[in-house]
Amino acid sequence: MTRRTLTALLTLTLAAHAGALTGPAAADAQARALLARLSLEDKIGQVSMAHMFRFTEGDRSAPLRADAAGVFGRLRPGTLLNGGGDAPPQNTPRGWADFLAALDSLGRANSPHGVPAAFGTDAVHGVNNVPAATLFPHNLGLGAAFNPALTREVAQATARDLRALNTAWTFAPVADVGRDPRWGRYYETFGEAPWLVADQVDAAVTGLQAEGVAATLKHFTGYGLPSLGMDRANAEISARALHEVFLPPFQAGIRAGALSVMANSGSVNGVPVHASRTLLTDVLRGELGFQGLLVSDWNDIDRLVGTYRTHADLMQAAAASVNAGIDVYMVPNTLEAYQAALRDAVQAGLVSAARLDEATLRVLTFKARLGLLDAPLRGSGVLEDHRALARRAAAATLTLLENPAGTLPLRTGRVLVTGPGMDSAAMQLGGWSVNWQGVGKGNVPVVPRVSTLAPALKATAPAGITVSALPDGKRAQLLAAARQADVVVAAVGEAPGAEWMANNPALTLPEAQVTLLRDLLATGKPVVAVLLAGRPLVLPADVHSRLSGVVMAFLPGTEGGAALADALYGRTGFPGRLPFTWPDTLTQVGLTADRPPEGAGEAPLPLYPLGYGLDYTTSVARDLAVTLTPEGVQLSAALSNTGERTGTVTVVARVTRPASGGLAEAAGRPVTALQAVLKAGETRTVSVTVPRERLSSWVGDAFGPGGWQLPGGVYRFTAGDGRAELTLP
Ligand code: BGC
Ligand code: BGC
Repeated sequence: MTRRTLTALLTLTLAAHAGALTGPAAADAQARALLARLSLEDKIGQVSMAHMFRFTEGDRSAPLRADAAGVFGRLRPGTLLNGGGDAPPQNTPRGWADFLAALDSLGRANSPHGVPAAFGTDAVHGVNNVPAATLFPHNLGLGAAFNPALTREVAQATARDLRALNTAWTFAPVADVGRDPRWGRYYETFGEAPWLVADQVDAAVTGLQAEGVAATLKHFTGYGLPSLGMDRANAEISARALHEVFLPPFQAGIRAGALSVMANSGSVNGVPVHASRTLLTDVLRGELGFQGLLVSDWNDIDRLVGTYRTHADLMQAAAASVNAGIDVYMVPNTLEAYQAALRDAVQAGLVSAARLDEATLRVLTFKARLGLLDAPLRGSGVLEDHRALARRAAAATLTLLENPAGTLPLRTGRVLVTGPGMDSAAMQLGGWSVNWQGVGKGNVPVVPRVSTLAPALKATAPAGITVSALPDGKRAQLLAAARQADVVVAAVGEAPGAEWMANNPALTLPEAQVTLLRDLLATGKPVVAVLLAGRPLVLPADVHSRLSGVVMAFLPGTEGGAALADALYGRTGFPGRLPFTWPDTLTQVGLTADRPPEGAGEAPLPLYPLGYGLDYTTSVARDLAVTLTPEGVQLSAALSNTGERTGTVTVVARVTRPASGGLAEAAGRPVTALQAVLKAGETRTVSVTVPRERLSSWVGDAFGPGGWQLPGGVYRFTAGDGRAELTLP
C-alpha cells in the first residue's frame, strides 16, 4: 500500500468515526452559507439558549407540550439546556435519548431553515443528571491522581454516554484554578496549581472531543478566587496573577481545541465579567486566540441589571454583554425579554449587525463542527458499563494523610465501621449528582446504586477480619461496640452541595461529626477517619492528633466504596497526592504552593503541602537532570520504590525562577508531575518536557503595563530530593 492510499484510508476511517468533528474549514463554509439565509429574528434566536422545560407541559419534567412546535417556531432558540437535576419525564437513558431526539427534530421541522438547536448539559463527573449513570470522582480527586491519561479516559467515557443520550455538548471541564478552599465549587476544580490544572484540562477537552462532544472551558476567568471564598463574590486579581495563575488552564484547553467557553458569573476587580470586553475579547480572543463559541452563564446578563446594577435595563445590559464578547445568552427563564432587548439594541444601533452576524456565525459553525446540521441525532439510549473505570479512577484518587502506627492496612481482628458516610450515596457523589445539590436534595428522589464503604468492607473482608457496621445515631450502642472492636473506621465528611450552597466558610466538619470522632476516640480504640469531602477540612487539633489514620477520599463517585475497601485492606495502595495546600488552621487560607516569600518573617508551614500523600510503600526521587530543548526544558529524574510493595510514585517538579521576573515563589512553582508505577525495589528514570512558557514570568510594575518574559538567570528545579539548575542567557 502506498503512503498516500494509507493516508486516504486513515482519513476515511476517521471521518466515519461517529464522534469525529467536522474540520474547521468545512464547518465554516457550511455555516456561512446558512448565515446568508437567516433573518434578524432567526439570528436573535440562534444566539439565545432556552431551558428545555420551555417545551414541556407546565415548564417541568413532563411530556412535550401540544404546542411545542409553535413555541419553537416563535423562540427559534439556537441552543437549549437543562439545569442541574432537570430531567425529562422518563428519567432513564432511553427516556433522555428519546426526549432529546424529539427536541432535535422540533428544530429541524420548525425553524425556518431546518436548523436544530444544540443541547448542552452539565456532565461534570459522568452524565450526572441520569440516575442510572455511573459517576466518576469529581475533578479535585482526579487532580490528586496526577494522571491526565486517566482524566482523558473518564472524559471519553462520559462523552460516549452523552452521545448515547443525544447530547453533543457539555458544560465541562471546569478550568478554574481553586485558590480558596472555602469556595463551594472548589471540588469542581482540579486543584490550586495552574500548570497541573492545565494538564488535566487539556486531557479532559481532548477526551470529550475525541468522542464528538464539544467541551466548554468554564468559567472564564478569575472565578476560582471569590472574596472570602463565597461563590460569585468579587475577585481582586492583579494582571500578574491573571496571567500566571488563572489563564494557563484556559490556554491549554483552547490549544486542545475546546469548541466553547463559558464566562465567569462573578466580577473581577469590580467589573462583572459578563460586561468585560477586556477579559472576554481582548484576553480570551486576542491573547489566548480562542475562535469558538462564548456562552454566558445562567441568567448573567439579567444580573447586570438586578444584581450588579451596572446597567440600567436589559437592553443596555444585552448591548454591553454582547459587545463585550458574549455570543450566546443562557437565559433559562425570560427568553422573550432577552430577545426583545437584543432586538431593541440592534435597532438602536447599540449592537452592530456585524457583531450579531459574528455571534450567529459562531453558533452555526459550532453546530457544523459537531455534525448537528447534517443528520438527526441517533443516540442508542443505552449507557456503557463504566464501573471498572469508575473504580480504577476512584482508587487513583485516594490519598493517605496519616498512618502513624501502621494501623492501615487492616490486617486482622474486629473492625467497626460507622459514620454518616459509611453508606451514603449522597456524600460519596457530592453536588451535581442526580440533582443539582446532590442525591436527596431536589426533585429527583432517586438514590442511585452506589458501592459504599460499609457494605464493601463487609463483602470483601479478607480471612481473619470480621466487620460490623453501625450507624452513629444510637450512641451508647455504638460506643459499646467500639469498645469491643480492634479498629474503628469512621466515614465522615460534608453533605452534598453545589455552588454557593456548598460554601464552607470555616472549612469545618459538621459539629455533630466532630463529636462523633471525639466519642469514638474516648474509647481508646484506634480510629481511622475516612474523609468524604470536596476540600481540605480543618479538624480540631485534639481530634486530628489522636486519629490513627486519616484517608482523604474526596468525592469518589459510584465505585468509591469498593475502591476504599481495596485500599484499606491493602489489596491496593494510596496513589493519591494532594493537588492543593492543606491549611493547618483557618488563618492559613490563601497559602498556596506558589506563594512568594514573605516580606518579613517566615512563611507559615501548611499542615500538608501540595504533593503530599503516604502509601504502604515508600519512595524517593533523585538525580534530577535538566536539559534545554527547542520546546523548553526536559526534566528527568530517577523514581525509586524503596518499600516492600508495588506502588504509584508521584513527585511534583517545581521551578524557582530568577528574581528579575518579579517575585519568585518561595518554594518554587509547580510545573509538572513525574509518575511511575513501580514494583518494590524498582527504580525508573522518568522524563517530561516542561514547555518554555511554564518558566516564563509576567513582568511589570504593580499597575504598569506587563508582558511575558523568560528572564535570563538561574532557574532552580526540584523534584523530590532531586535538585538541578539551568542558566538561561
Ligand atoms: C439549576 C442549575 C443552575 C443554577 C443556577 C439551578 O436551578 O438547576 O443548573 O446552575 O440554578 O443558579
Ligand atoms: C453554573 C454553571 C452551569 C450552569 C448550567 C450555572 O449556575 O455556574 O457552571 O454550567 O449553571 O447549569
